Amino acid sequence: MSIAITGASGKLGRLIMKQLKLLVPAEQIIACVRDIEAGKDLAAQGIEVRYCDYDRPDSIEQALAGVSRLLLISSPNPDDIVRLRQHVHVVEVAKKLAVSHVLYTSFAFPENSDIPLTHLHLATEHAIRAAGIPYTFLRNGLYMDFLEALNLKNAIADGAFKVLPGTWRFNAVARDDLAVATAAVLAGEGHHNKTYELVAPVSWTFGEIASILSELSGIPIYLREDDEIRHWIYGFLSKIDTVSTSYDLERLMSLAGRPLTPLKENIRSYLKM
Ligand SMILES: NC(=O)c1ccc[n+]([C@@H]2O[C@H](COP(=O)([O-])OP(=O)(O)OC[C@H]3O[C@@H](n4cnc5c(N)ncnc54)[C@H](OP(=O)(O)O)[C@@H]3O)[C@@H](O)[C@H]2O)c1
Repeated sequence: MSIAITGASGKLGRLIMKQLKLLVPAEQIIACVRDIEAGKDLAAQGIEVRYCDYDRPDSIEQALAGVSRLLLISSPNPDDIVRLRQHVHVVEVAKKLAVSHVLYTSFAFPENSDIPLTHLHLATEHAIRAAGIPYTFLRNGLYMDFLEALNLKNAIADGAFKVLPGTWRFNAVARDDLAVATAAVLAGEGHHNKTYELVAPVSWTFGEIASILSELSGIPIYLREDDEIRHWIYGFLSKIDTVSTSYDLERLMSLAGRPLTPLKENIRSYLKM
């Protein structure tokens, strides 16, 4: 079996390949990259590196030659119509070359939102289904990166974690955990035509973050609601489903013998404490 991964030079792609190498021989892995130079370190690990640009179907066709299982990592293009076109290029080639299983990194609980981002992911899922290719949809939750928007370092410096008033809850996940689960699916069997919601099994609150900040810093950090806060993240959070939970991520990670990373550890590593 040969397993190809697009977007392989990106943050998620690299983490997935690191996990996948623990499960299958490196010679079975094909890293599809836009810049061959960026894949040099992967080639040095015995992974075959192939040129692949979502905007160039000819390059996708060469990259996917002989591939039996494909992980399509969603494009980071900021224009969702461009992204959809890019994804469809990959799906068309996968169909033409009779790739036997396509995994796609979608977004968690897309039916519960009505924004271009979630429609893009649903449209890509439909394109894969319309092509009749056996699929697995890995609906990734919000990356823990969003902690960056919360000014946690300032909260520790000020003794106050300021947030916009509201009833916020979060099912966000670490890329490392997504990588463990994705590699387990890529290397495993029994995942045909399944959709996994890869989010935290419980949703947490800003109050829990404030408690963790207090524990990590050793000083009390108080949660303060402040309606003067202006940050795009709140608008985004209010339009996506960060409340619903699922055991899919935890269960898939357990296939690789790995537990979910606790929120405290994610915050500790984000703050480098
Ligand atoms: N769940 C979330 O919270 C969340 C947040 C952000 C993004 N995402 C999605 O998750 C994906 C993976 O995340 P990530 O952190 O790994 O993103 P990333 O580090 O930006 O990686 C994106 C990858 O896509 C590649 N790429 C960009 N344009 C391409 C093209 N035209 N053809 C082929 N490859 C192309 C990039 O290659 P180059 O290195 O050549 O640019 C890179 O390898 C993102 O692309 C985005 O769709 C999800």
